[in-house]
This record gives sequence, C-alpha cells and structure tokens, in this order.
Amino acid sequence: MAVRSALLIGTGGYGRIHLNELVRLQDEGVLALAAVCDLRLSEHAAGIVAERGIRHYGDYRDMLAGEKSADFVIVCTPIQHHAPMCIDALEAGFHVLLEKPPGATIQDVDRILEAVRRTGKHCAVNFFSPSSKALSLIGGIASLGEIGRIRGIKGLALLTRTSAYFRRTPWAGKLMSGGDPVMDGAFHNPSAHLLYSMLKLAEVLAEAAGQSALPARVNAELYHANPIDSDDTTAMRIEMSDGTELAFYVTLCARQTETQRIRIEGTDGALEWNYDDQVTVWRNGTVRSHDCREGGILERRYRNLIRTMDGVDGRLDVSLESARKFTLTANGAFESACRIKPVPSSFVRLSDAADEPGAYIEGIETTIKEAFAAGKLFSEMGVPWAMPSGPFELKGFHAFPQRFELYR
Ligand SMILES: NC(=O)c1ccc[n+]([C@@H]2O[C@H](COP(=O)([O-])OP(=O)(O)OC[C@H]3O[C@@H](n4cnc5c(N)ncnc54)[C@H](O)[C@@H]3O)[C@@H](O)[C@H]2O)c1
Repeated sequence: MAVRSALLIGTGGYGRIHLNELVRLQDEGVLALAAVCDLRLSEHAAGIVAERGIRHYGDYRDMLAGEKSADFVIVCTPIQHHAPMCIDALEAGFHVLLEKPPGATIQDVDRILEAVRRTGKHCAVNFFSPSSKALSLIGGIASLGEIGRIRGIKGLALLTRTSAYFRRTPWAGKLMSGGDPVMDGAFHNPSAHLLYSMLKLAEVLAEAAGQSALPARVNAELYHANPIDSDDTTAMRIEMSDGTELAFYVTLCARQTETQRIRIEGTDGALEWNYDDQVTVWRNGTVRSHDCREGGILERRYRNLIRTMDGVDGRLDVSLESARKFTLTANGAFESACRIKPVPSSFVRLSDAADEPGAYIEGIETTIKEAFAAGKLFSEMGVPWAMPSGPFELKGFHAFPQRFELYR
C-alpha cells in the first residue's frame, strides 16, 4: 500500500511535538509529511522545513488547495479555529486528525460532524485515552462482574501551572478569543483527556452490560484562583443515561501533583487506570497490576487513522461522535455553574514553582481527595470558598451558551 501523506496546520506549541513525531515517522517510512502551515514558523520548525525540503504555507487554505495529493490534515491550532479549519479540510477532500478539544461549543462540533457525514471522510480526535489493551482488560473485568455491580467512576487531576503557562499564548485561560468562544479552562484543555477517558470508560462498561451510556445531566462548580477568565479548579458530577454516576475533579493550583487517574468502584471491588496506562484491580483482598502501555500516543493516532483510511482498522480509536460526548458534557458544566467563581484571596498563596509561580489554593490536595472519596462537590463538602450550583439537563442541548455568562 502507498505511504500516506500528511499536512500539518500549527507547528508551534503542541504542534512542535506533532512536527517532530511526523519527521521521525517519515524517516521510518510510516508516513510522509508533504507540507506544513503556520502564520509564523518558529526557528525550530523553519529549521526542519528547510533541512528536509518540506513545503510551507502561511494560509491553510492555500495549502489545502495546493496539496491535493496529500491524504490527511492534522489540525493543531487554537481551539476557536478547529471547526472552520476542520470543515474546510474535509470539504477539500482530506481526512482529519483534530487536536482536542474538538471545538469550543457543541454547535461547532455538530457542524464538523455534519461535514464528516456529507463528505464521507474520517475525523479522528487526539484525546489521550486508555490504550486498547486497557479498555479490553477493563471491559472484560466488567462483563465478568469481577468487581460486582458498578457504583461509579471517579477522576482526579492534581496539577500545577505557572503564571507563564497562562501567558504562553493569547487565548490561554480565556473564555473568548477574537470574538469567538474558546473556553480554555482546566477541564477543557489540560485535563480534557481525563474527562474524555471517564466518558469512554462509562461507554465501555455500559457496552459490557449490553447497554449504552450517554451523558444525561451535569452538576458542576467552576472556580479560579489565578487571574484568568476560565476555571482552574473544578468539581463536576455527571449522570449517564444508564444511571452510572461520574465524579470528576481537577485543579491547576496544587503544590503536590499526582499522576492523573480514574477509579471505577464496584460493589465487590475497585479498579484504577492512570495516565501511565497502568491498571490496578482490588478484589477479594488481593491487588493485581497490569501494564497496558502501547507506545506513543501520536504514533498510535496517526497509525489508527491511516489504517482506518485503508480499511484495515474497523474504527477510529477516538471518533468525533465519541468526542462529541466530551463537548456536550463540558458545555453543560459551564451551563450548570453559570459563571466562574473566584476563590477569595485569603485562601490563595503562590505555588512552589521556582520561576513565575501560579496560584496555590490552601489545602487543595486534601480538599480534592476528600471530595473524590465522598463523590461530592466542593459545596457539599462544606469547603469555605465553595458555592452550590444546579444540575443542567443535556438531552436536547444543541446550542451553547444558554445560561452561562459568556458575553458579560
Ligand atoms: N494532545 C495534547 O496533549 C495537547 C497538548 C497541548 C495542546 N493541545 C492542543 O493543541 C492545540 C494547540 O494548542 P497550543 O497550546 O499548541 O496552541 P498555541 O497557540 O501555543 O500554538 C498554536 C500554533 O498554531 C499557529 N496558528 C494559530 N493560528 C493559525 C492560523 N490561522 N493558521 C495557521 N497557524 C496558526 C500558531 O502560530 C502556533 O504555532 C489546542 O487544540 C490544544 O488544546 C493538545
């Protein structure tokens, strides 16, 4: 089969990681990198382009028009550009690997989905999620009832970000950018993978029980301690259509960080999956650990898209339909919270970062771990800076925002 060739839009920021991986895989004969596009090439990207004779464009539409023999486009640009760039690429006849989150709003994602259906092209989304080894292990444990009836799925992200992180790009920490929603908060960007993975695991567990699981209702509390528009500390509870309850916690304001992890609790045991693709199972007083790593995420995503294009893989690891559940839930979380609430300065210190520290919320590690153990929101735990919010129904939710104060 002919080697498939790629186009990359966005070579700075995370695009640098794509660029490096694409040239590495080109050297291995896995794919070819035909051309890249960026408004302004970094020194690093300009060096690679010059050294390897890769064509470069300043306007992605010129690249789509000039590179008709390429097969797929990787979109790695600020979130507000995802929908227009992805739709243009699909309409120009390319398959797409779209960076997460797929779009800022549910209507953006639905517009891309409509273009996927109209053009018949594939659109994969680069969410990190449990490896196929981990998914089949966890699905098998659930279908055999090894940990009993599933009581809930919980996700925990204790992260830290410097103030430089929020200054690295103009849309960082913003709700709006250039007049468009961007919704760049903790759960919509750095911890989006964790929330997506929880929804994916809910789907796998439901399938193991012969059911389906769609996000039905979300109740979320969104806070910030850093001087940003969006959230840096969030708790949310999601009710799935099959009755499974998800509880998700993230902060970018921790001093003690941990590997992000998901815990599935059953009546007869529990299991955990973490970002290193390790699965641990507790059952009948025993503990079993499984190494489920399958190699680098980008290589896996490129290979899966190429194999799907070639008809070798039956389906995408992360399809846009599957990623839509993430955006539905994320938009619903903003609606539930109505607005981002500030953590009063009396609870905020500087983090431990040596250079340009970000905000640290006093005792946030313990606060989050206790809420995680109880499956409760911060206000339900009596956290002094927390304020309750109401549930938001996701059925029939097609246009964001409704009650979230986005344009104030
Ligand atoms: N999968 C992951 O682990 C991961 C990690 C970080 C970021 N991301 C995602 O990658 C995407 C980009 O994030 P980032 O932090 O790298 O952003 P960034 O703003 O740092 O970089 C974006 C790049 O796109 C370029 N660009 C912007 N507008 C453009 C346009 N109109 N045409 C061509 N190029 C344009 C910029 O010049 C820059 O090089 C986002 O969707 C983000 O969520 C994913």
